[in-house]
Amino acid sequence: MTSTLITGGLVVTAADEVAADVLIEGGRVAAVVDRHSTVAASLTADRTQDATGLYVIPGGVDGHTHMDFPFGGTFSSDDFETGTRAAAWGGTTTIVDFAVQTRGRALREGLDRWHAKADGRCAVDYAFHMILSDVNDGTLREMDALVAEGVTSFKLFMAYPGVFYSDDGQILRAMQRTAGNGGLAMVHAENGIAIDVLVEQALAAGRTDPRHHGEVRKALLEAEATHRAIQLARVAGSPLYVVHVSAREAVEQLAAARALDLPVFGETCPQYLYLSTDNLAEPDFGGAKYVCSTPLRPREHQAALWRALRTDDLQVVSTDHCPFCFTGQKDLGRGDFSRIPNGMPGVEHRMDLLHQAVVDGHLTRRRWIDLACATPARMFGLYPQKGTLAPGSDADVVLYDPHAEQTLSAETHHMNVDYSAYEGRTVTGQVVTVLSRGETVLDRRTWVGRAGHGRYVPRGVCQFLD
Ligand code: URP
Ligand code: ZN
Ligand code: ZN
Ligand code: ZN
Repeated sequence: MTSTLITGGLVVTAADEVAADVLIEGGRVAAVVDRHSTVAASLTADRTQDATGLYVIPGGVDGHTHMDFPFGGTFSSDDFETGTRAAAWGGTTTIVDFAVQTRGRALREGLDRWHAKADGRCAVDYAFHMILSDVNDGTLREMDALVAEGVTSFKLFMAYPGVFYSDDGQILRAMQRTAGNGGLAMVHAENGIAIDVLVEQALAAGRTDPRHHGEVRKALLEAEATHRAIQLARVAGSPLYVVHVSAREAVEQLAAARALDLPVFGETCPQYLYLSTDNLAEPDFGGAKYVCSTPLRPREHQAALWRALRTDDLQVVSTDHCPFCFTGQKDLGRGDFSRIPNGMPGVEHRMDLLHQAVVDGHLTRRRWIDLACATPARMFGLYPQKGTLAPGSDADVVLYDPHAEQTLSAETHHMNVDYSAYEGRTVTGQVVTVLSRGETVLDRRTWVGRAGHGRYVPRGVCQFLD
């Protein structure tokens, strides 16, 4: 395996910003050496990458993706091959995807199926969470075995009755299990039972277009479910990670829990930071492109999300990448918004949209790397193998041009989906070169990666719990 020396860049991690050269050997970071030290001049390698004028950052860790995911009678349009390639184009070198338990079946069967979907197809590394769709004695026992083999987090749904939904008793039982086995309980916090009543009433009154998806999935029903999830986790003694937080009122619940020093964590996603119910109201069924759950909120919620990212009441930004094509998939919900497959594309643009937040003054550079790389790696037991650039870390390295301007568009993105949620939006900053375990997969914006380079990464337990 060749060694590589990355010279001339500004190395940015969650902890530090230094003008340093990075030496890579055997697929790992061997040294990060201050450019002005005497050692720097003596470093040699088989090849050199010039990063003058660029940031040298750890590859992104996207803790929430859904490749090849069954929803609403169809499957998300990116599979592990196209989805991980798009991730790499955007500087993300590790995804944690959600394996799904089929109702009435074992966790093992679902996990095996997800391994089969991903095995040999990924361009970058991947790991799994497990979605519990059927909490019972057998499932609960299986959770221990999954934690031991590196699937250390479990998603429970308070939403989607009849599909992924678990009732409070099931959620409590699963949380009692994670309290004992080191696992992390993840919750989709929306009161799905109440929402389904509002859905029925809306449809009966002829309110069928995508805008109403946002109206029935009320912020208060996200806040209520967030509160309930927190109390259930407290009763069980389990850590809790609330996924895709979008409502200001839900953030308030998380902040209150964290003020009590409870092991409660939360993520948000770029779509909640940049898009709003205005998008859901786009004409000619265009709002369907933005149907996801939790839903986009009125613009006023965004300030609370940005603030929470700064105060650490939210710790992670993931994408919840779950693309469905406008033509042929989102279409399923014409005339009935409740049949629009839920989810949005985004895995390619998380690093850029968060860098834009640095440009706009919402975040510092280090917080950008913290939210997108280091903290998701710690949260999901991957640090410091992933999420940082330190001796011994996997050499997942991104050379990032902070001055390049790019316009996001379906014409130029690499996700397998026929629209961009950010069509025409210009951002400052672009990925130039990407290394995955020392191998170049994107070289000055030429794709040189391959399906099957990406490896499965078993995870340790959440690293925020001691
Ligand atoms: O709308 C979404 N978020 N689709 C993916 C499934 C989920 O709830 O995360
Ligand atoms: Zn500059
Ligand atoms: Zn969800
Ligand atoms: Zn999701």
